[in-house]
Amino acid sequence: MSHSRQIHLARRPRGIPVREDFAVVEVPLGDAAEGEVLVQGLVMSVDPYMRPRLDADQALETPLIGGGIGRIVQSRHRAYAVGDLVRHGSGFQERFCSDGRGLTKLSPDPELPLTVYMHALGGTGLTAYGGLLETGALKEGEQVFVSTAAGAVGSVAAQIAKIKQCYVVGSTGSDEKAAWLRDEVGLDAVINYKAEPLAESLAAATPRGIDVYFENVGGAHLDAALPRMNVRGRVPVCGTISSYNGSPQAVYGIFNLIYKRVRMEGFVATDFAPLNGAFMRDMTGWLKDGRVKYQETVLEGFERAPEGLIGLFEGRNTGKMLIRVAD
Ligand SMILES: NC(=O)c1ccc[n+]([C@@H]2O[C@H](COP(=O)([O-])OP(=O)(O)OC[C@H]3O[C@@H](n4cnc5c(N)ncnc54)[C@H](OP(=O)(O)O)[C@@H]3O)[C@@H](O)[C@H]2O)c1
Repeated sequence: MSHSRQIHLARRPRGIPVREDFAVVEVPLGDAAEGEVLVQGLVMSVDPYMRPRLDADQALETPLIGGGIGRIVQSRHRAYAVGDLVRHGSGFQERFCSDGRGLTKLSPDPELPLTVYMHALGGTGLTAYGGLLETGALKEGEQVFVSTAAGAVGSVAAQIAKIKQCYVVGSTGSDEKAAWLRDEVGLDAVINYKAEPLAESLAAATPRGIDVYFENVGGAHLDAALPRMNVRGRVPVCGTISSYNGSPQAVYGIFNLIYKRVRMEGFVATDFAPLNGAFMRDMTGWLKDGRVKYQETVLEGFERAPEGLIGLFEGRNTGKMLIRVAD
C-alpha cells in the first residue's frame, strides 16, 4: 500500500486565511480497482472562489475543493491508457484513484506549455472571454475598465478588449504589475489602486467614460467605476474579491445605474460552455501569435497549496497562481 497527501481544511478561517487553518494529511492509497484509474497530479489551480467556500460548503477534514491536471499512471478503465493527461476536479489530492467521473481527457497543443490549460486555455480564459463578449456584450472600439488586470482572469479580459480595438484601463496593486500591464501588455492606462486615489485616477484615465466595466473586485472599485459609466453601459460581474474574507465594503453609487440605463449582470464560467469551441480556437491563435501574453506564479510542491490560496488575497501572484505537484 502506498501513500498520497491531501490538503484539508482544519478549521474555518476568520478573515484572510492563515497557514494553521489547513493541514497536509498523509492517506493510504491502494492500486486502481477494476474500472478505475490511478491519477498522479501534475499541477493544481488555486482560485479566489475557494475562500468563500471555506465558510460553509467546504467540509472539514476532507480534501479542499479544487481542480488540476494529472497523468494516468495505472489504468483498469477501458477509456484511459497509462500516460493520458486529464483535467480533474477531484480536489487537493497528490495522487488518487478515480472511476473516471470528473475526469476529462486533455490533448494539449505541442506548441504550448501544459500550464496554459490551467489559465488562458482553461476556465479562467473562458470566464474572461464569455464575461466580456457575451455578458458584457463588448463592441469594437469601446471604452473598457478591468479590475485586477494583472490577475489570471483580468489579464485575459483586458487583452481580449485590446484585440477588439478598445481603449482599456486596468487596475492593479503594485508598480511591478502596473509596469507589465503598461509596457508588455500595452494597456492604455494603468492605475495602482494601492498607491493612487482610485476614483480620481480612474476619472482622469477615462475621459470618454466607461462602456464596459469588467468587475473582479467590488467595494471601492465598483464605487469608482459607477459614476464613470456611459449610457447603456454594462458591468459584467465576474467576482468581488474584496468581500471574500468577510469584510464587505459599502457601495454608494448604485443610483448611477438608473438614468444611465446601465446593466449589471453576474455570470458563472460554466454558462459559457456553448462558446467553448470558438473560445479554444480564438485563444489558441491569440497565444500562438503573441496577442495574448500571460504570466504564471508557480509554487513548487503540493504542500504549498495553502500558501498559494492565502497569497491570492495578498496580491502575491501575477497572472495565474498554480501549484506544481509533480513533473
Ligand atoms: N464568475 C466566474 O465564473 C469566475 C471564474 C473565475 C474567477 N472569478 C473571479 O474573478 C476574479 C479574479 O480571479 P482570478 O482567478 O483571476 O484571481 P487573480 O486575479 O489571479 O488573483 C487575485 C488578485 O486579486 C487582487 N486582490 C486580492 N485582494 C484584493 C482586494 N481586497 N481588493 C482588490 N484586489 C484584490 C490581487 O491582485 P492585485 O495585486 O492587483 O491587488 C490578487 O493577485 C475574482 O473575483 C474571482 O472570484 C469568477
